[in-house]
Amino acid sequence: MVVTVTMNPAIDKTVEIEALIPGGLNRISKVEYDAGGKGINVSKTIQEMGGESIATGFLGGNAGKTIENVLNDKNIRHDFIWVEGETRTNTKVFEQNGEVTELNEPGPEISEAQIKELLNKLETLTKEDTLFVLSGSVPKGVDKDIYARIIRLVHEKGGKVLMDADGELFTKALETGPDIIKPNRVELEEYANLDYRASREELFQLAEGLLEKGIETVVVSMGKSGALFAMGEKRVNCPALPVKAHSTVGAGDAMVAALSYAWDHKLDEQETVKLCMAASAGAVTTVGTKPPSRALLDELMEQVEIKEQ
Ligand SMILES: Nc1ncnc2c1ncn2[C@@H]1O[C@H](COP(=O)(O)OP(=O)(O)OP(=O)(O)O)[C@@H](O)[C@H]1O
Ligand SMILES: [Mg+2]
Repeated sequence: MVVTVTMNPAIDKTVEIEALIPGGLNRISKVEYDAGGKGINVSKTIQEMGGESIATGFLGGNAGKTIENVLNDKNIRHDFIWVEGETRTNTKVFEQNGEVTELNEPGPEISEAQIKELLNKLETLTKEDTLFVLSGSVPKGVDKDIYARIIRLVHEKGGKVLMDADGELFTKALETGPDIIKPNRVELEEYANLDYRASREELFQLAEGLLEKGIETVVVSMGKSGALFAMGEKRVNCPALPVKAHSTVGAGDAMVAALSYAWDHKLDEQETVKLCMAASAGAVTTVGTKPPSRALLDELMEQVEIKEQ
């Protein structure tokens, strides 16, 4: 089973207006709401693939209830901790000239007691065949070692962890040894303190170093330049699929969803790579973070070109 952990979920609100008038009355021509936050996006994509997951984390207020309703409508299992305050609504204002203005709420503050409650919940959800997906930022009040704490707890109970975060969250979690990671190239370069663009060879070397620390799978995503896979003895370099890009937001989350689905369904390395490339390319063709359809994934999987190193 896959359990996605979203510490800081959000309603993604998209509004369209002709032209934004600061200080004036702005009439919205179209508005859309979607449940978001990286872990929730991963759960939605897994569902679209035909897989299953449980979404957990923190929810609060009416925005939290809306997210719960969306998950219910999509038949995605969930088990959140309810907190005081209001889950974030992140608004993107699209103007006709293509300009985008973002308004992001802070979200509720989380106390140590609530963190303990989450850790207890994760502990009860952990079985040997459970993969926890830790992705995205953490709310105010939460220490940057939280992913490291979760990894320790899950490993004690025999579960596995896929971690997708950046900065201090990433660095601290790496010290504890997650099982699968999917940094993008910039996240990996920052982790390695490089102030230049690393070559593919250098990225493979960095991945190698991480495998030596005990991480089983390292996937380095490189946007439209594709991805590098280091899994066990296999080293694969995959060009991105030639798709018409609509929105690259969520491409990384789709790849994380593919890695989780592949782990849960025990896909072999070839199939895992194909699903990752197809899911992420598919996500690029959809609006916002909407997951690609299963039919599109199957079509794209046929086109993946795997170059073994
Ligand atoms: N323009 C594109 N065309 C085809 N595939 C793409 C494109 N952009 C991204 N992808 C696919 O998506 C994968 C992940 O993209 P990227 O490296 O941008 O992730 P990320 O930075 O983690 O994104 P996120 O914003 O979701 O965190 C790439 O490895 C590639 O397979
Ligand atoms: Mg990412």
